Amino acid sequence: MTLSRAMDHDFLDRVARIPVQGLGLSVDVYSPDLLSLLADLTRRQAFPMYLEVFHATSSALAAVRRQTDLSLPYHGEGLWVTQPGAETDPLFQEEARALASHLALLRSAWSNHECATKHIAGYSFGTYLPPLYTAASADIVAQNIRAVQAIFDQCVSLPGGNSPLFLLEMPPLTYFVAGSLSIPAYFRRVTDQTACGLVLDVGHLWTVYRYSGVWRTQPILQFLDDFLQEFPVERVVEIHVAGLAVHESLKGEVAALAHGGENCLPRWTDAHAAPIPSVLFEMLDRILRCGRLQQLRGMALEVDTKAPDLIADELAVFLERYQCVFDVDVSRSTAVDAIAPLSVNLRYPAEDNALAKSQALAEAYDRYARVVSGGAEPSGPDWTAAMACCDDLEWYRTEYLPYEILHWGGDIEAMFPETCRALESQRLALDRFVSFWFCRPHPVTRSYDFFDVKIDRFVEFVSDVAVDLTPLAQREAAELRQAYQAANAGPLQIASTGR
Ligand SMILES: [Fe+2]
Repeated sequence: MTLSRAMDHDFLDRVARIPVQGLGLSVDVYSPDLLSLLADLTRRQAFPMYLEVFHATSSALAAVRRQTDLSLPYHGEGLWVTQPGAETDPLFQEEARALASHLALLRSAWSNHECATKHIAGYSFGTYLPPLYTAASADIVAQNIRAVQAIFDQCVSLPGGNSPLFLLEMPPLTYFVAGSLSIPAYFRRVTDQTACGLVLDVGHLWTVYRYSGVWRTQPILQFLDDFLQEFPVERVVEIHVAGLAVHESLKGEVAALAHGGENCLPRWTDAHAAPIPSVLFEMLDRILRCGRLQQLRGMALEVDTKAPDLIADELAVFLERYQCVFDVDVSRSTAVDAIAPLSVNLRYPAEDNALAKSQALAEAYDRYARVVSGGAEPSGPDWTAAMACCDDLEWYRTEYLPYEILHWGGDIEAMFPETCRALESQRLALDRFVSFWFCRPHPVTRSYDFFDVKIDRFVEFVSDVAVDLTPLAQREAAELRQAYQAANAGPLQIASTGR
């Protein structure tokens, strides 16, 4: 049996044990507050069949589990499966075990993870960066997923004796894409080497159409058909639909350009708070008609940070429109008994040069982080291959990323008001914090938290540019940490820095 057939077999065995979840919501515990959202939805008589819950503290998750009988699959965070070196990184192992404990607590049928990261080669970002779409990168993703699935198998036993299934979500593009493999070929290479399921996010797929440059030469439905033909659709377990919008960093004149002219698509990016544009439902209808979604178990609207009224309106339409998807074919799953037991020991690709490959990939990611943050030029095969596209990279470098560092997930002036006033009186512009942030790598040594990283880096920045202000910045940082800790101790109190 080939490795890919063995992986398909293992996948079918695992997914057959997951019941159909139906039409649900992918939610954040804190934003909007989940318990009041459920009360609102009950009042509006638009009720989800399941909730995919985004990463939160154990106590918050336990509170949710106590409050509802709905099935609660999980949306993980902070476990960067795209990055090399995980096998020797104690933090990765620790994250995987903490994740397993959350899955056990919620009794989650699956754990979904973006095929993306917020921390590359010591450089920190607020929102997801897609992987380098190369063969070496796909191989590392598969290897890391196998390691995490083994931890689930060892640590979590769900009712019925199975363990949660690792799902990998195709991430959004935010203005650029790098690498030499097409995105569907990349996911095919991952699924050939691991038994994971996939999440197909329709809005993410729209951003692939937009930022891979294909929109210039193909109509969207043609792109979709070609994409699905190559993508391992047979592994899709869940479909996501969420909003798209022009990013808030693109203000005024820039925003007008971002909305696109007559011959240009808007520069939308993934935006869960925004309304869902109708083009995504046209795409979803086409996806559902492709005939290869044999293992689909759920479809969810991703609604973290969205206004509750809009959630209720969109959910009502979604339930009405797609009710039939799960009515017809509940027996679509292959019966567990029908799967013959595996008769071979699985062998993974030769590991002789694994260290050299991992090091080469680490160097490629180091360069990737420097390119996207403006410290290196987009040259070399990862940026010039036919599949790469950096037409809009400058938007990321000069608008999106500075906004992320200065405002997103914690506004620096609101976090450090006194220090910022003192810096201003010394004519030290806050913009300098952005270049300081990326001037050298800073590996994280604890569970990834962008707000936490921001506090650390700002104190370092102040010490670097105005040493006399260090005590002031340190005092404000201590107050922030204390408030953050206190808020985290309450079950459902704190605003998340989100996806
Ligand atoms: Fe998603």
